[in-house]
Amino acid sequence: MAAPVDNYGRPIRYLRLAVTDRCNLRCQYCMPAEGIDFRPRSELLTYEELLRLCRIFTELGIDKIRITGGEPFLRKDIDQFLLQLRQLPLLQKLTITTNGVFTARFLPQLADVLDGINLSLDTLQPEKFERITRRQGFAKVMETFHTALELNIPLKLNVVVLEGINTDELPDFVALAAQYPIHVRFIEQMPFDGKQGATAIQWTADRIRQHLHHIVPALHPVATEADATAELFTAPGWRGAVGVIAGFSRTFCHSCSRIRLTPVGVLKTCLYDQGVDNLRDRLRAGATDEAIKQVILHHIGRRFRDGYEAERFALPVVQSMATIGG
Ligand code: GTP
Ligand code: 5AD
Ligand code: SF4
Repeated sequence: MAAPVDNYGRPIRYLRLAVTDRCNLRCQYCMPAEGIDFRPRSELLTYEELLRLCRIFTELGIDKIRITGGEPFLRKDIDQFLLQLRQLPLLQKLTITTNGVFTARFLPQLADVLDGINLSLDTLQPEKFERITRRQGFAKVMETFHTALELNIPLKLNVVVLEGINTDELPDFVALAAQYPIHVRFIEQMPFDGKQGATAIQWTADRIRQHLHHIVPALHPVATEADATAELFTAPGWRGAVGVIAGFSRTFCHSCSRIRLTPVGVLKTCLYDQGVDNLRDRLRAGATDEAIKQVILHHIGRRFRDGYEAERFALPVVQSMATIGG
């Protein structure tokens, strides 16, 4: 089935589904220390509603679904939900982004269900982990890391580059990409942190890229899919690759294939928009599958050109990334 194409000719094939806004961590760059006002459970899409929406999205030609949060493994019975989602006949790829604290024990049964795991990890030092996340859990994240490798689940590390906090560890993260068959992706910090945000960042993708070349002069580019968020590089003798994600500079919008659903059913056609519809409300008002499809296609046909345009039209409210799912 061909993917639906937006008003700028971009095929939309990738749904990012945030299944909860709750998180067991309180990463400095994501949430205020006291947490955010989590939404009551009754406001969340139920698994039944999520499955119905995912079937509808796949019937429209969207064939990749990534489950995000908050922390997806905090939601009760998430493993059962993933097993059910996998049954969707038109779904090609099912992946998940997790902080890894509660993940390891689920992996044996999910090894055949998941096409990949993206693990958020900003430091390789236990004490620093506690400083960044304001919680414990480093050993459990590392257990998830090694379990995923043992089970041959494709693994990517997401490292948000934080000035003065983890920039000294970039060589250690790079060494992991040489040692293991993984992608280690360095991400520009985006101003979704629960406080009024920045308009500039210190570690731009350009600066990260230059720094990576400085650490490993033999780095060379690796081909990626047309709609990839990460630019990838590897070096002779390496088993894996390093990547750079320009989430703040937004240099990949021209090929963006992504659409999002927040935990409360808000449809977003850009990470930086304020939401374009609420599919939960439509479902609960009795909308047919066909009506939901028309709504989704309507919004795919009216996307912003890029994250800058989306941001200009959005309300000046800085949300936590946990309410969006990244
Ligand atoms: P793959 O599907 O494995 O390529 O992963 P991904 O990069 O699409 O997803 P992941 O959840 O691992 O996110 C990595 C980083 O990319 C996070 O910081 C996301 O917020 C960011 N990101 C993902 N999609 C977008 C997007 O459409 N726009 C922007 N600006 N950032 C994005
Ligand atoms: N800037 C960049 N990336 C972020 N993430 C969470 N908050 C931010 C932010 N402010 C990343 C996490 C996770 C992914 C879904 O989004 O590291 O891996
Ligand atoms: Fe939780 Fe992820 Fe936000 Fe950290 S970045 S607080 S792990 S949702």
